[in-house]
Amino acid sequence: MKILKGAMVVDETTTIASDIKICGEKIVEIGKDLDTSGCEVIDVSGCYIIPGGIDAHTHFDLDTGTTKTADDFESGTKAAIAGGTTTILDFATQSKGKSLKEGLKEWHLKANNKAYCDYGFHMAITDWNDSVCNEMDEMINEGVTSFKLYMAYKGSLQVDDSVIYKALQKSKSIGAIIGFHCENGNIICELVDKYLKKNKTSPKYHAITRPSIVEAEATRRLMAIAEVTNARVYVVHLSCKESLEEVLKAKCRGVDVIVETCPQYLLLDNKKYDLEGFEGAKYVMSPPLRTKEDNDVLWRALAENKIDSVATDHCSFNYKNQKELGINDFSKIPNGSPGVEHRVGLLYTYGVCTNKISINKMVEILCTNPAKIFGLYPQKGTIKVGSDADLVVLNPNKSKFIKADNQVQNVDYTPYEDYKLECEIEKVYLRGQKVSSKGEITCSNANGKYLKRASN
Ligand code: URP
Ligand code: ZN
Ligand code: ZN
Repeated sequence: MKILKGAMVVDETTTIASDIKICGEKIVEIGKDLDTSGCEVIDVSGCYIIPGGIDAHTHFDLDTGTTKTADDFESGTKAAIAGGTTTILDFATQSKGKSLKEGLKEWHLKANNKAYCDYGFHMAITDWNDSVCNEMDEMINEGVTSFKLYMAYKGSLQVDDSVIYKALQKSKSIGAIIGFHCENGNIICELVDKYLKKNKTSPKYHAITRPSIVEAEATRRLMAIAEVTNARVYVVHLSCKESLEEVLKAKCRGVDVIVETCPQYLLLDNKKYDLEGFEGAKYVMSPPLRTKEDNDVLWRALAENKIDSVATDHCSFNYKNQKELGINDFSKIPNGSPGVEHRVGLLYTYGVCTNKISINKMVEILCTNPAKIFGLYPQKGTIKVGSDADLVVLNPNKSKFIKADNQVQNVDYTPYEDYKLECEIEKVYLRGQKVSSKGEITCSNANGKYLKRASN
């Protein structure tokens, strides 16, 4: 048994000076001055203890067809635990012409014996038919209780409105939830053609061909289909004011919608696309970075309970040789950026320390809500007797600078180079075992477990 002693324990509603007793993988007691007999005592005074973070949106070991993500399950989950995230949910993806079962098997092989944190899968459906519809039940039995549909990426991942309608009818009937990438892929395709024909090939045209209105239109369309089917929907990586407005209007009509945003849409803006040379490619992601005003709107929405979770959409490609695939054509730059390692530190520093959100709100959006939304609560996402001892000791008296040179994620840049973090992730426990200390991995084995999740 061990006791973490002397910290301020933070959950989604309270911040209380307490000790936490851990037996095996579980939290067994929380309170002041716990009896320490027979326990290893770990002094963490001056620190906060928060629940292990849950990043509900990662892409590890993803083959895009032209290249493969820089992070696989080993480096991606090591980066996660170094930064205070003890659970990730990655997107298993159905290949065209294949079944969901085959997609799931492929992702289990990618993660098995490689994951340093606990993990689950959403299933991205790219090729709808009756048998895939039936397979959604089987996925639930396998613990995959959430799915994803893309309204963008024409010709590869994109599905049309009738697929969205049918999939939502099904998800409603089986208590699953579907996440949506909301951008109008058809219009994006036209805009990309238009600019490439004019020989406009630099990274900034990625953003110009994916304006906010194109995201807002898809969001509005999704809200309509959700209203018709009466199904719960989850909007992934919402990036702008216009999309948020569509969500809020739909909520007023009674649509059951949950919203995710990402650190990049809170902290970075479209000025990055004006950087010298090909630097803007580092920020080529979909949706693209928006304006400073959008950043502010999203922060306020978090504080006002209008956005429910913050995930990273970690999808890393090296600048050298990978982003460079699009040096002569922005549409060939692999989409995505790294972030899993820095989500907790960034939200603490730029959200809590600047009084944009409380520390309890931070826990809610990084830990508790993702657990509740995706069927992991109260095993994960909170600090309660009986919950997994996934605990993060956050020291607010230390600081550090984010640098590509000192990161764990296996990629040659970070979008947050030289950002100061006003904390250190001092210790991380995964089911009672210390797995990282001051950003260094302290466990030698990949002990992450696959999480079979519950449906609603
Ligand atoms: O640019 C991004 N977001 N890449 C990852 C795939 C996705 O759209 O989520
Ligand atoms: Zn997406
Ligand atoms: Zn994504």
